[in-house]
Amino acid sequence: MGSAAVSGAQKPHAVCVPYPAQGHINPMLKVAKLLHARGFHVTFVNTIYNHNRLLRSRGANALDGLPSFQFESIPDGLPETDAEATQDIPALCESTMKNCLTPFKDLLQQINARDDVPPVSCIVSDGCMSFTLDAADELGVPEVLFWTTSACGFLAYLHFYRFIEKGLSPLKDESYLTEEHLDTKIDWIPSMKNLRLKDIPTFIRATNHDDIMLNCLIRETDRAKRASAIILNTFDDLEHDVLHSIQSILPLVYSIGPLHLLANREIEKGSEIGKMGSNLWREEADCLDWLNTKTRNSVVYVNFGSITVMTAKQLVEFAWGLAGSGKEFLWVIRPDLVAGEEAMVPPEFLKETAGRRMLVSWCPQEKVLSHPAIGGFLTHNGWNSTLESLCGGVPMVCWPFFAEQQTNCKFTCDEWEVGMEIGGDVKREEVEAVVRELMDGEKGKKMREKAEEWRRLAGEATEHKLGSSVVNFETVVNKALLGQK
Ligand code: UDX
Repeated sequence: MGSAAVSGAQKPHAVCVPYPAQGHINPMLKVAKLLHARGFHVTFVNTIYNHNRLLRSRGANALDGLPSFQFESIPDGLPETDAEATQDIPALCESTMKNCLTPFKDLLQQINARDDVPPVSCIVSDGCMSFTLDAADELGVPEVLFWTTSACGFLAYLHFYRFIEKGLSPLKDESYLTEEHLDTKIDWIPSMKNLRLKDIPTFIRATNHDDIMLNCLIRETDRAKRASAIILNTFDDLEHDVLHSIQSILPLVYSIGPLHLLANREIEKGSEIGKMGSNLWREEADCLDWLNTKTRNSVVYVNFGSITVMTAKQLVEFAWGLAGSGKEFLWVIRPDLVAGEEAMVPPEFLKETAGRRMLVSWCPQEKVLSHPAIGGFLTHNGWNSTLESLCGGVPMVCWPFFAEQQTNCKFTCDEWEVGMEIGGDVKREEVEAVVRELMDGEKGKKMREKAEEWRRLAGEATEHKLGSSVVNFETVVNKALLGQK
């Protein structure tokens, strides 16, 4: 990249449509910024719910946009709420599929009726918002689908229909959710070695054929073949074999990540576009000042992403495990982290750890994970978090919650050798021991060296004009979005 922006009087116009959840909006905004840097006029379409949340978390002018970068919104079809929490994912999947096409088509029509913006020339949509393909067809413009998962997670999703054919999903009933059954070997997905049922994205654990998420993933992966190209936020060196297997099913798949590194390369930080953010919660940036006072690799960073919920008991076990480790830690506790109640840690824990911890409700995570003071990450293995950790050279303790986080965890531990998993049923003794190993043990040291290697390779994919992700991004822009031969 770094090549001249598209020239000519009429700019190409990309409409970017993220799935309405934090882990999808963040990487889509990076794609949108990269397209803008490449000379596109961009319209970024949030749901009204998220549009309002962004105004609250980032300030009233945050979505004013620029002359060539505008924000629009469409309803998600769910009942209105002011809650500051992640919406119900299955309800959102069902609602966007059923209700969003009409308002989206109306929006495209309104945009194309304006004479102050170029006509829409392409759509870049989240892979789980494939209703947009019908709008693209109607308009006669190309559409690129962005699957924000890891390639290994996406490959597993592409095989969901075979789990049904083989009678492995849906499960007969919940009594099949045992360790023993989840240990069932899955050895028939090409390039996925030593997998068990428990490593497959959790939606496979449905217990009936009408399950919303099971059907949603089967439908959306099937519709992916209609796209002009599919982009993934990963890089060739990290997921080479898996990408190869995906390409045998969907030839036009391109790895263009890690997107935050690619965006850092192309977009000036202090520029108006560089300052545009997408955090739905208000960031507490003073944790960076706190980290500045700490020595290299001394702090454990704990964050379970935007959707994970846990029980009050699990929160307490994590708290005492961290206290017992004796390490300094930065812990992000979202206000909605505990299902159905306020997320509260015990006062005795606060007293015991005073002076060696910082608790916040949301942080600037990319900056935190690239801070030299961070020595380890206790994570839920959301794909963005996993990638940001690899790029910071930070080894992980993995506590996957749902979706393809289980698959990410398996690859993090066994393929990329930068993680150790802890049991779903959190025990303070285990947390304490594994955090000590992560920060001070032999295994922790080896994982840190390995993470450093991934950091270097992620840089190579994105920093040089011949880096694999740089080249792939150019191909997607030129061939799939601009239709050049
Ligand atoms: C989930 C999935 O796990 C992910 O793999 C899937 O593709 C989308 O849904 P989520 O729980 O949001 O995602 O986790 P993650 O994918 O890690 O994304 C969270 C994003 O929010 C990251 O970009 C992270 O940098 C950001 N974040 C999180 C912050 O900026 N501050 C925080 O305090 C927490």
